[in-house]
Order: sequence, then C-alpha cells, then structure tokens
Amino acid sequence: MSTTLHDPNLSSTLREHRVFAPPPEFAAKAHVKSLEEYEALYQRSLDDPEGYWADVARELHWFTPWTKVLEWNPPWVKWFVGGKINLCYNAVDRHALGGRKDKTAILWEGEPGEVRRLSFAELHAEVQKFANVLKGLGIKKGDRVAIYMGMTPELAIALLACARLGAIHSVIFGGFAAHALVDRINDAACCAVITQDGSWRRGQEVHLKAIVDEALEKCSSVKSVVVYRRTGSEVTMRKGRDHWWHEVMAKAAPECPAEPLDSEDPLYILYTSGTTGKPKGLVHTTGGYAVQTYISSKLVFDLRDEDVYWCTADVGWVTGHSYVVYGILQNGVTTLMYEGAPNYPEPDRMWKIIDDHKVSVFYTAPTAIRACIKWGDQYPQRHKLDSLRLLGSVGEPINPEAWMWYREKIGRSKCPVVDTWWQTETGSIMIAPLPGAIPTKPGSATRPLPGVVAEVVTRGGQPVPVGSGGLLVMRRPWPSMARTIYNDPERYQSQYWSAIPGSYLSGDGARIDQDGDFWLMGRVDDVINVSGHRLGTMEVESALVAHPKVAEAAVVGRPDELKGQAIAAFVTLEGSQKPTPELKQELRAWVTQQIGALARPDDVRFTQALPKTRSGKIMRRLLRELASSGEIKGDISTLEDFSVIARLRESDEG
Ligand code: WT7
Repeated sequence: MSTTLHDPNLSSTLREHRVFAPPPEFAAKAHVKSLEEYEALYQRSLDDPEGYWADVARELHWFTPWTKVLEWNPPWVKWFVGGKINLCYNAVDRHALGGRKDKTAILWEGEPGEVRRLSFAELHAEVQKFANVLKGLGIKKGDRVAIYMGMTPELAIALLACARLGAIHSVIFGGFAAHALVDRINDAACCAVITQDGSWRRGQEVHLKAIVDEALEKCSSVKSVVVYRRTGSEVTMRKGRDHWWHEVMAKAAPECPAEPLDSEDPLYILYTSGTTGKPKGLVHTTGGYAVQTYISSKLVFDLRDEDVYWCTADVGWVTGHSYVVYGILQNGVTTLMYEGAPNYPEPDRMWKIIDDHKVSVFYTAPTAIRACIKWGDQYPQRHKLDSLRLLGSVGEPINPEAWMWYREKIGRSKCPVVDTWWQTETGSIMIAPLPGAIPTKPGSATRPLPGVVAEVVTRGGQPVPVGSGGLLVMRRPWPSMARTIYNDPERYQSQYWSAIPGSYLSGDGARIDQDGDFWLMGRVDDVINVSGHRLGTMEVESALVAHPKVAEAAVVGRPDELKGQAIAAFVTLEGSQKPTPELKQELRAWVTQQIGALARPDDVRFTQALPKTRSGKIMRRLLRELASSGEIKGDISTLEDFSVIARLRESDEG
C-alpha cells in the first residue's frame, strides 16, 4: 500500500475539552449502564474473547451449534466453525413466528410522500415468495446476484431473499453509472440483476432500468433481470431475460424454508474503493457477520422493542447493509427507510419524518449535518423532535462544531450523540460510545466495543505515546471482518495484513487521549472521503486518462466545508489539445458518466507537468498542499524538475 502518512501530529491541531456524561435517566434503562460495567465487559472480552463472542452468538438462532468459536491463521479466519445459521431467519422468521409478527419491521416513506408499513409477518411472506422467485430463475446457493435499486422495501426483501438461499448479493449503489456497474457485475460474474424502473430523487426520476440495460450490453454472465415497478415510467423489457417483480411474485409459492448455511458461507460482496483504480469486492460471510451486526446494533443504539430507528444511509453502502437491514432487524426493531433527498421538497424533510413517525434513534453522516447547518436552524425549529432519544454519526470524522450543533439543535441537548467508527471491511461498528456508559466528547468516537482490540501504532507497529498520532490497527480478529477480496486474496493480504504482521491496517490515522478515547484523523492513504463516500483517487485518475484528450492526471482531496473533502484533479493534455473552460466541463461530465456523480471532480486544473520524484512517482503531497491552500510550502527536495512548481502555480483554478 502506498501510504503517505501526512504527519498526524501536525495535522491534529484540534484539542477538544468538552465532555458529556450519559444522562442518568438514559443510563438507568440502557443495556450497559455505567463506565464500570463497560470496562468489566471489555476486560472479559480481552481475557476470554472466544467465551465473550460465544455468549453473544447464543442470543441468535443456530440450526446446528458451532464446534469451535475461532480458527485464526492470519489473515485467514473462521468464526463459529461448523455452526449452521441463516441470517434471514434471524432477521425475519424469529420475529414473524414469535411475539413480533404484527409489529412493523419496515416503515417506508417514498419521496413523494407515500407511506408503507410491512409487519414482520408480511416481510416474512414477501421474502419467502421472492426467494422462490430466485429459485425459479435457477439461482442457487453461492450464485452472485447484483442488486441495483433505490431505497424501497423491495431492496431489503431482495437482500433477505438472497440471504435465505445462500445466494451472494452484491448491492451496487444506485448513484453509480453504467460503466461502474459493468465492472462490478463482471468481477463477480453475477447471474442476475434485481432492479427497478426508476427511483425518485429531488423530484427527478433516476432511470435505473435504463442504466442496467446499457450495462448489460457488456455483461455476458447475466441471464435474468427482475424489475420492481416503482415509478411506473416506461422501460424496455427484453423477452426471456427481464421479468416484472409483480408478475413473478404473483406466481411464486408462499413457502420457502430458510437454508441452514455454514457459518462461513459467503453472505455478500460489497465493492469499495482502494488505492488502485480497481474497486475491491469485500466478501462477508454469514455467522460472524450476523453475530457482530446484531450485538453492535443492540449496544451502540441501545435498542429497545419500542424504538423506531432510522438510518439515512443508502443500502448501496455498508452502513445500509449492517444498520438499515441486518443488525436492526435481527434485534426485532422497526427500521425506517426513506427513498429520497433530505432537502425535498424543503430542507426540513428529515425533521418532518422524525416527527411524523416518532423516530427515536437517528443515524446519519457528518456531511448531512453540515448541510443542515448551512440550510439554517429554522428548519429543525419547525419540528418538535421530542421522540428522539439517541443520535448517531458515521462515515467520516465529525468536526466538533457539527457535533455540537447536532446535539443541541436536533437532540435538544438531551440525547447522547454516538460517533461510530468502522469500515466496509470491518462489517460492524468497532469504536463508538455505548451511550449509557461512556462519556462523549465532540469529535471522538471514544472507546472500542467489547471484543474489539484497537491500537494506534507507528509504521513499525509500536504503540505511540498518549496523544500522538499514528496508524489505527486491530490487534485481534473480530467476527464480522471481511474474509477476503473477491477473486483477489493476495490483494487482501497485502493491503490489510502485511505492513504490520498479525495486525489489521485500517488505513486511518488516529490518536488516543489520556482517557483512552480514540480521535480519528482521516485516511493516511490515497483514499478520499467525499460526503462520507469513499473514493480512490486512482479510480478518478483512471477515468480521466481514459478520455482521449487527457495525457496524465493526478487527483487529490482538499478540505471542503460541506463534503469533508472535495476532489481536485490536475490534468495534462495530449499534445495539440487546448485547455479551455469547455474541456473542463467535458472532463467533469466524463467522470460522472464513467463512475457516477459522486466522483465528479470539483476542480479541474490544467497543467503542463505534474510534480514527480526521480523515480517517477507523482508527489501528491505537493498537489494536496496546492489544492488546499494555494501554496506549496513543504519539502520539495525529492522533486525531479523544480520548474514544475512554477508551472503548477500558473495552472488556473477550476
Ligand atoms: C472510512 C470507511 C463505516 C460506514 C461508512 C463508511 C471513515 C467512517 C468514521 C468516523 C472518522 C470515519 C474512515 C474509514 N470513517 N466512520 N466515525 N470517524 N472516520 O464506510 O466507505 O468503508 O469508509 O470512512 O476513514 O476508513 P467506508
């Protein structure tokens, strides 16, 4: 991995001293009620990790118990060896067949305002039918199924139906373009795609099926497509390949027992960005993922039966997998799904939804909070927000200002705020306050969850002193860790497990304060975080150089008030090409078309040359400085051609 550790000591100028103890009324009812209780639980998980995880696992339903909790041959791991389990059964059947059958499992609101409620019994019925639909299409355990949908209950049904059979789902975020869809479908050789005609976003329809049609021109492995009718707009259906969801569901048999799957059978693949141009398909398996998403949901969101829980993440990201669907439903809690944009028709939509549905636990991203701050306090002020009891944040470091605004304006200073650190690779929340037990500090994710052994170390793997920045690593395996990169186990090993032998390298910088609280400091590699979405700078570069007029491109992140990081692209053009404002727009549109709007560069700067070392490596640090501050002050002694600096300064800003 090409880490360029921007000195975290220097970059952490931020020192925050406010501390908020858990409110006593909250702590009294919480699953974990005090710091002492957390510490005892944590210590137990250190002394006897297998005993700790086995106790948690026993809260779920297993068809056959495991014979061994953990088999660890770094970096290869097996959890609950020999155990047979079905995650769909734990998320749906257990509640549908028990006391929660009439309780709402999924509470859905469309962007135009329709509301649908599916009880656990109804969800059970739908999932069984859809599992039979998949079977009818010849899909069986181990087959890969791509899911490209908007936020509808049918998306959750599709996931759960795959999990019921042991078919491996690969959800592709609805904001990705056809090209990105092709790469992901082909990498996993998916045999089917589940999609919908379109989805509503800020009053506009996103034509998902049309994008699938374009992608499938280049995907020979796909034999069937199921199309859920959401918007009712016209789509082309290819005979023999495409099926309407409502038609196949009408013919499907009502019963489909949940398959007893091996604990280590793959559950899903989810692509995320790395430091190369090629996204990584992280593979998650069944038993360990079920166990840890279940317990982390329960403890971090302190879930109770009467909660209405809302996570605003799209199911296209890991947050949606773990904390819209699997973790929450396993706890038998009502999960709210909202289809559209947070500021449609007005910037108070989220607060209106919270009041309308009496949401009690709300989980969103710092970028959304910062957008709300910008829109103005009048929007949350219009609403009571008195059903809320807990607030969560995820996706990027949360700046103390946003944290305080969230606490005061949304939580009305009475709800604990939990900043949760984790990754696609970790599957579950790893570092976060247990809200009844751990005092919170604006900007800190506080302490590792029981069973999680996190440390901050030097490049050599030595712990850093209190308060110093370093690399965040995990010292022990955890049940919901990704098992490999699909088709690329070597990359998995080298990316995460080779820099510091025996430890998992997260790619994030962090420091630990005198109380043992973790402060996350952002990525230390060529990965940037734009509005809580992870993007490899190399991916954007690959897209840019694929344009016929581009010779070379270097992409870096620069701080952005709203998005966390914005994308700055430095581009050199092919010989005769002229740098024009039109070409800038053309390149921005090109990247949107290649990857999706989330990757569209904010700045495009044409330059005659890029700064390189003598060995030809682009000096991104210099570009980062230039893009962020307009100046280059750092060390340039390894630069091969000093005149490049002068020419770069001349590159006009976009
Ligand atoms: C990267 C993982 C985890 C679900 C959403 C993103 C950053 C995530 C936090 C946080 C500071 C955070 C890290 C991490 N990140 N949560 N609470 N504080 N940074 O998943 O796309 O896999 O991205 O997001 O840099 O490595 P992802």
